[in-house]
Amino acid sequence: MDDESGVESHPRNGRTVDPPPAFTDQANVTAAEAAAFAEDWPDCWDEAGEMLDWADAYGTVFESGDGNGRWFPDGRLNASVNCVDRHLDERKTQAAIKWIGKRGERRTYTYLDLYHEVNEFAAGLRSLGIGEGDVVTLYMPAIPELPIAMLACARIGAPHNVVFAGFSAAALAERMERSESEFLVTCDGYYRRGNAIHQKNKADNARISTDHEVTDVVVVERLDDESVRLGEDDHAYDGLLADHRGEEVDPVSRAATDPLFLIYTSGTTGEPTGVRHTTGGYLAHAAWTSHAVLDLEPADTYWCSADIGWITGHTYLVYGPLSLGTTTLLYEGTPDHPEKDRVWEVIERNAVDVFYTAPTAIRAFMKWGTEHPDSHDLSSLRLLGSVGEPLNPSAWSWYYEHVGGEDCPIVDTWWQTETGAILLSTLPGVDAMKPGSAGPALPGIDVTVVGPTGAPATATEGGRLAVTKPWPGMPLDLETDGEGDDWRYVTEDVARIDEDGYVTVLGRLDDTVAVGNHRLGTMELESAIADVEGVAEAAIVDVRDGEAENTIYAFVSTDERHECEQRLRDRITDSVERTIGPFAVPEAFVFTPELPKTRSGKLMRRLLKDIANDGEFGDTSALRNPEIVGEIESALERM
Ligand code: WTA
Repeated sequence: MDDESGVESHPRNGRTVDPPPAFTDQANVTAAEAAAFAEDWPDCWDEAGEMLDWADAYGTVFESGDGNGRWFPDGRLNASVNCVDRHLDERKTQAAIKWIGKRGERRTYTYLDLYHEVNEFAAGLRSLGIGEGDVVTLYMPAIPELPIAMLACARIGAPHNVVFAGFSAAALAERMERSESEFLVTCDGYYRRGNAIHQKNKADNARISTDHEVTDVVVVERLDDESVRLGEDDHAYDGLLADHRGEEVDPVSRAATDPLFLIYTSGTTGEPTGVRHTTGGYLAHAAWTSHAVLDLEPADTYWCSADIGWITGHTYLVYGPLSLGTTTLLYEGTPDHPEKDRVWEVIERNAVDVFYTAPTAIRAFMKWGTEHPDSHDLSSLRLLGSVGEPLNPSAWSWYYEHVGGEDCPIVDTWWQTETGAILLSTLPGVDAMKPGSAGPALPGIDVTVVGPTGAPATATEGGRLAVTKPWPGMPLDLETDGEGDDWRYVTEDVARIDEDGYVTVLGRLDDTVAVGNHRLGTMELESAIADVEGVAEAAIVDVRDGEAENTIYAFVSTDERHECEQRLRDRITDSVERTIGPFAVPEAFVFTPELPKTRSGKLMRRLLKDIANDGEFGDTSALRNPEIVGEIESALERM
């Protein structure tokens, strides 16, 4: 036990897996290149800057001083030029975006198509009086008009503010107010599990609910619903395009440090916080990591399953792949419709080369069974990625074997809305993989762990993960402390760094549980439970039991094979005792078909904590599956 950091340590299963040789032979980054890169910070990041086309070349890679310093401070560029125009010479007729709609529709935009539509929509936005620096809010599901609108905004230097389509009117209004955005692009509606969602009504309600002025609204027609009427300040997307058919808009050259977009973090607690990402540093970091970590090449078909409403969709569905000239797949449906093999069917039919998803999705695939991936030819896959939570070893192995066929490296990438792009990951052709651990800091990135007093913790002790050198994708106004060699950005993640520099994320600081007088990372304990056969996912919360010591409850979602609960409980107890210690065995187990998740797929632990403690709980509007709350309550009552 490390008393200083308050993090429990336990032996990991020490399995390491070398990257498949066939992959290494073709990897975008070799060991020698990675070593050279790591050597001379900050100038190493020139390599990332060089991946972009600049209107005015930068002379300086990084200028310290002023706050957190500035990347490529004297360079100017336009993001839409980098994601579209510059590919026309070589890849005019190659698919840029392949869209698969919810009702099986397919649409492909070549780079030339994308060029035309981005220009026409940029001209349309201009005609509404939108200019450089105006914030445009985008509120749409996974339809091609969303990335097109992002790029059109980028073309005219108007920072976009994408709000996840599933958010309520109130959440939209709040984000528009906070960002002082007067322009909105939305759609009439879309289908979700067969029902029409009237997005335009939500947008209208948001407008009514706020004093903040929204001058113009552009509406993409998606629903074929005559009853949706456009008001005076509303403009049909198609009409706007038609009015500006064939027009070209000179790209506005932006300082590297000008904001490209705003995004609100999707925390499970606390208020939404706006993060502003830059045009030069962010785009360079997105392009370089797409190349070095996801190993993307222009010839690839690449699928990032995240929603564009979150940072992962911004960086690795839109800006990263398009800056490299790759074909990016945009999938509007759900992973289990019409059948639970849908994801594998999409990969097979589109010959997807690189697939990037989240542990929560991987655990769902596991739960549905191996017969689904096994019934498809997944041999087009070259690399698999994961982001969002720790990828526990059993999910790692399942992904590696049943999806990758043991031929694809897995990159477990750690980063955040605040970091803009990946900071921790193995380099897929260079580093051995350690299941359960994200991997080392990328070359050019430095991290450490700090104890509660802020002093560095020793390497293998746990502590708060801190980034100790600025990185190109860092946002404007990032809260940091120290200067010069003491500069650092301290995250809310608790992590441990092993002797090889591999970082294992144990949990969020707000997600540690007290067990007696020990503190444990929830993720660590959850991983020990999730690794038990028959378990799909687990969530741990601590419960205050009167004057007595803290105890912990485990909420466990199970496989579809209906297991005997007692046998499962014994196996979990055994696993927790084995990997962490008997003190960590939960006091109670609540078995449930699903865990409550936010729309971005994050576990809503606070809610479980409230239910377990006194049965009172607050707002569940952020939940994707609110119906599960009642089931959990009745399971608790039966205990
Ligand atoms: C968690 C998503 C473990 C972490 C890109 C982080 C991870 C938060 C990993 C950011 C990973 C992300 N292993 N934990 N590979 N990737 N996280 O802002 O707690 O939605 O701080 O950005 O997700 O979530 P955000």
